[in-house]
Amino acid sequence: MPETLDTIGWGILATGKIARTFARDLTLVPGARLAAVGSRGIDSARSFAEEHGDGSTRAHGSYDALLADPAVDVVYIATPHALHLAGARAAFEAGKHVLCEKPVTLRTADAEEMVRLARHHDRFLMEAMWMACHPVVRELRGELGTGRFGRPLHLTAELGFRVDAPPTDRMFDPTLGGGALLDMGIYPLTFAHLMLGEAHELRGVATLAESGVDLDIAVAGRYPGGAVASLSASMTSWSSRRATIATDLGRIDVGSNFHHPDHAVFTPYDARGPRTEHEVTLTGTEPVLGLGYGNEILEVGRCLREGLGESPLVPHAQTITLLRQMDALRADVGIRYPDDPEGPA
Ligand SMILES: NC(=O)c1ccc[n+]([C@@H]2O[C@H](COP(=O)([O-])OP(=O)(O)OC[C@H]3O[C@@H](n4cnc5c(N)ncnc54)[C@H](OP(=O)(O)O)[C@@H]3O)[C@@H](O)[C@H]2O)c1
Repeated sequence: MPETLDTIGWGILATGKIARTFARDLTLVPGARLAAVGSRGIDSARSFAEEHGDGSTRAHGSYDALLADPAVDVVYIATPHALHLAGARAAFEAGKHVLCEKPVTLRTADAEEMVRLARHHDRFLMEAMWMACHPVVRELRGELGTGRFGRPLHLTAELGFRVDAPPTDRMFDPTLGGGALLDMGIYPLTFAHLMLGEAHELRGVATLAESGVDLDIAVAGRYPGGAVASLSASMTSWSSRRATIATDLGRIDVGSNFHHPDHAVFTPYDARGPRTEHEVTLTGTEPVLGLGYGNEILEVGRCLREGLGESPLVPHAQTITLLRQMDALRADVGIRYPDDPEGPA
């Protein structure tokens, strides 16, 4: 690193739901192309390459073959969480940079190992926390940091949708790291971290499935500057997906889908009530590419061209902090995965 990359060759490892969404946004990013895709099954790789590739995209019937492809500069790992570390290790050993789906691993120790491997092999590593690369979220974070909207004192964020999948789905499978916290709760937790700083204290309550994974979780947090947060994630119900940040000067409402919002609005408040005539609407200082995965892809490209080992938008320390928080919350509410040091619940 750095590398002279006119066009960055992306390799997508696994052909599931998010890999397809990601591939659609990849086509919108200048200076990036889908060089190859790898799947456990060659048919799936071929149909993926046909649908999302540019005609010369190669299809591989194994992850190892994808990682051996010299046209691939950076690998996007889109397997279930429990398999991310093995994928990243193999990618680094093959000399590839890595964008790894969230959460990067099931637990802190494994995330630390992934970061150690990236540094050892001198490769770029970023958690695919696309929310942190989203133009509206970035602008909101910057403006909040200036104090323009007042002192943030109470943040709420909830993310949930019904997972109408068979019990064999990864979302219900403890061996694959299923459950609402790791899949969805990571967004409200990261949102609070981005807006308020690192939590001083987090406490959770959850409803667990028979398999031991959490179906619904609510978290109360205490953050720097006297701020508190109410955060939740659900696999059983369709929550608002909104976030609000109440300050001593007014309130910020983050539009539908706080993790990829089309806008955020600050409404000042005085003793007579909300001052809607003085509302400030944020829409981001750069365009949203596709659903917003394009901005994450752009950020990886920028970092690779600058020879960075990590992105300032999703630094390794943040990824590890969030995993540490989720480890503690799992212990708090009793979610155990089979490979946890204490073993299954
Ligand atoms: N950033 C986001 O917005 C977002 C959204 C959804 C999910 N995610 C993350 O992306 C990851 C994948 O989620 P997904 O919803 O795409 O999952 P999914 O639809 O189940 O796809 C996962 C893919 O991983 C591969 N795989 C390898 N071993 C597997 C195993 N033992 N069981 C199941 N799949 C296996 C399969 O691809 P092949 O058959 O091709 O090998 C499978 O299609 C998760 O870590 C999740 O947290 C991120």
